[in-house]
Amino acid sequence: MKALIVYDSVYGNTQKIAMAIAEAVSPQGEVKVLRASEADLSELSSAGLLILGCPTHGGRPTPAMQEFLNRIPAPSIQCISVATFDTRASVRWVKIFGYAAGRIADSLKRKGATLVAPPAAFFAAGKEGPLKEGELERAADWAKGFPESKKQFCNAPHLHNCTLQSRLVNGFVRIGMRPARAA
Ligand SMILES: Cc1cc2nc3c(=O)[nH]c(=O)nc-3n(C[C@H](O)[C@H](O)[C@H](O)COP(=O)(O)O)c2cc1C
Repeated sequence: MKALIVYDSVYGNTQKIAMAIAEAVSPQGEVKVLRASEADLSELSSAGLLILGCPTHGGRPTPAMQEFLNRIPAPSIQCISVATFDTRASVRWVKIFGYAAGRIADSLKRKGATLVAPPAAFFAAGKEGPLKEGELERAADWAKGFPESKKQFCNAPHLHNCTLQSRLVNGFVRIGMRPARAA
């Protein structure tokens, strides 16, 4: 299973969380960590797990993460397990604006992605950080909790790349063979 972690970060806190997550999932196979502004969509075709995370800015994902989300074509993530996270200020009143992780998850779900975990939040003590104590460990624990099911089975015939894939549909695993990518 290849895991792809795509993140954005202004002050470096989310990058640290992304790295902690990468280390946590690395025993399961290859892990690639990319900045959203530099992430190449071709990486998705070989990924079994996609983890997206960025800081919350004004209740939303950062522009670079939003731009990456907009670039993802729906069919390319329908057979990939997905998890999302954000970093945010530990200030209660900002709750009224919402948070990035849930919005990223909603955007991916609208494209047919299957989430393997609820969106996660990690806290920075201030705008520039640092991360609150224990957040790196919490991020690692969150990622270690992902099921081993990253080798998904999917029967969507329009999808590329011939691998046996599974997909949860209404709580049931559906099994099928995906067609090979046209040359
Ligand atoms: C322009 C701006 C807007 C922000 N808006 C929010 C917000 O709406 N809610 C929140 O919880 N934190 C907000 N924050 C705090 C960031 O989430 C925090 O700076 C971030 O977690 C740091 O991550 P980074 O070091 O990876 O950039 C904001 C920070 C900035 C700079």
